[in-house]
Amino acid sequence: MKLITSINEMQQFSTDAKRRGKSIVFVPTMGHLHGGHASLLKKGRGLGDMLVMSIFVNPIQFGPKEDYASYPRDLKGDMALVEAHKVDVVFNPTAEEMYPEGFQTYIDIERLSKPLCGISRPWHFRGVATVVAKLFNIVKPDTALFGEKDLQQLQVIKRMVHDLNMEVNVIGAPIVREIDGLAMSSRNVYLNKEQRKAALCLYNAVVKGKDMFHNGIKDTRVILKEVRNIVESEPLAVIDYIQICNINTLEGLEKITEKALLALAVTIGKTRLIDNTVLGNEQREQYIF
Ligand code: PAJ
Repeated sequence: MKLITSINEMQQFSTDAKRRGKSIVFVPTMGHLHGGHASLLKKGRGLGDMLVMSIFVNPIQFGPKEDYASYPRDLKGDMALVEAHKVDVVFNPTAEEMYPEGFQTYIDIERLSKPLCGISRPWHFRGVATVVAKLFNIVKPDTALFGEKDLQQLQVIKRMVHDLNMEVNVIGAPIVREIDGLAMSSRNVYLNKEQRKAALCLYNAVVKGKDMFHNGIKDTRVILKEVRNIVESEPLAVIDYIQICNINTLEGLEKITEKALLALAVTIGKTRLIDNTVLGNEQREQYIF
């Protein structure tokens, strides 16, 4: 495994690999790796010759009052997982390397960035799209993998790739959960014991929504009322949003007539957690024990 911190060196590596006819699979992350990231590596390993992972806590996707400074970082611990998954290169640049003095170019995905997480984090997807576009230009992947836990992010990236004619095949991978159902997240380490228990309300809400849908309820107001009740009955939980929307446009729906997304963001203590499920998608989610 090779650790690269310089943009030039990473670009050179990718150019050389391509010249030798090797395909590149890319998994972008912010590190503090867990089973969700591991599932992307596992899936990615079989999709091409070179597996590249980036570990970069991207300052421009955090708001001024958010957790950029305290975001968990553990490069040493991450390396063990990276080795286990036979990653060829870890790209780990500094913020100064990625955003030198004078940087001023951003990518704005106009509509998909606005709903759901975009309401309370209006800067977020501009920061995500910009860093992912930069990473694509640096790593030059043929294929890139993103988790469905961040489904809005996945849709934003797919839109960007389509709109800007980027030659990258973007693939989504199912949400990986803890044994009790909590979606794995680097931010779960912020939760104390009591909050960790409370955080289960997100999963319970998702399961309730899925059950109601499977029982034939298609009116989103009816589903959302019950789902909201579950989260509201948890005293430590503060709802950011709970929404059922069109899976492609992310616009709110009154009635579910085709594949829809049930998505929620909830703050437990100071930790903002997200979860979602696709209604009308029988694909089973993956669990890690
Ligand atoms: P990060 O939160 O580190 O996540 C990296 C990738 O892992 C994303 O594609 C995310 O959706 C996926 N992932 C995280 N938790 C998951 C889970 N429980 N199950 C399945 N996949 C999961 O997302 C980011 O970093 C950043 O925004 C990034 C795309 C790297 C841009 O900075």
